[in-house]
Amino acid sequence: MKVVYTNEALALSLSNIQGDLGFVPTMGALHDGHISLIEKSRSENKFTICSIFVNQKQFNNAEDFEKYPKTIDTDLAKLELAKCDMVFVPTNEQIYPANFKAPYYELGNIENVLEGYYRPGHFQGVCIVVNRLLDLIKPNKLYLGRKDFQQCIVIQKMLALQKLEATIELCIVRTKRDQFGLALSSRNLRLSEAAKRKSLILINSLQHAKDALNRDENTDLTKIQNDSINEIKKAGFESVDYFDFINEDFEVIKDNNESKRIIAILTAATIDAVRLIDNIEI
Ligand code: PAF
Repeated sequence: MKVVYTNEALALSLSNIQGDLGFVPTMGALHDGHISLIEKSRSENKFTICSIFVNQKQFNNAEDFEKYPKTIDTDLAKLELAKCDMVFVPTNEQIYPANFKAPYYELGNIENVLEGYYRPGHFQGVCIVVNRLLDLIKPNKLYLGRKDFQQCIVIQKMLALQKLEATIELCIVRTKRDQFGLALSSRNLRLSEAAKRKSLILINSLQHAKDALNRDENTDLTKIQNDSINEIKKAGFESVDYFDFINEDFEVIKDNNESKRIIAILTAATIDAVRLIDNIEI
């Protein structure tokens, strides 16, 4: 496995590659969810490259950025074991040189709801870094995990805005969960074992809500939402930012009689000062 640290070394190594190139962007603190993206890319491409870069631009909370786990040695060992071909570990100066001008992306409503609402500026930061990495790497396929469902839809929109849709295929890989069902996340490293067990309420509530919708498509969404938030709090969460139903235009649906189909239920909640997100497809 080749590890490159500069844009020049990256360009040189990429110039020797023939065949499809799959790209997995990460911020490190790798877990089996990331490794499942590497595996998926390896199964679909001749060559797989992973990036590790903690992108300050997407953190709306400075403390969250400072606290973000940095585990580069174990990350590289995991990628080696997963037979990743190349890892790009740039410095901030490589990604954002002095003359770099951050673009603004017209993301529309998706930037104002759910994660967009609770983390102002977050999705602009994500688009800036992913767009920059795509410019440097020029992959055929981009792999993202479905746990960050809103991020996947935002990146799809960014690809369309940048006219990259025809050259880069976005591949959304299903959420990897632990043996009990908790969605894997780098933030789980900050959870006690007790908090991890309590956190299962997230996927359980999402599943109950989905079952209720499937049983009766005219079911009262506000009641499901309120019941779910109460259950999550009762399980030990300090707060629930949202538990919402969204349609294919990524609008939050309050009334089940609206014409557009519900495609997913998304939630974000905080336990032991760790904010977790999860979602379920309908
Ligand atoms: O999902 C993440 O880890 C990050 O948002 C990403 C896509 C690597 C961009 O920094």
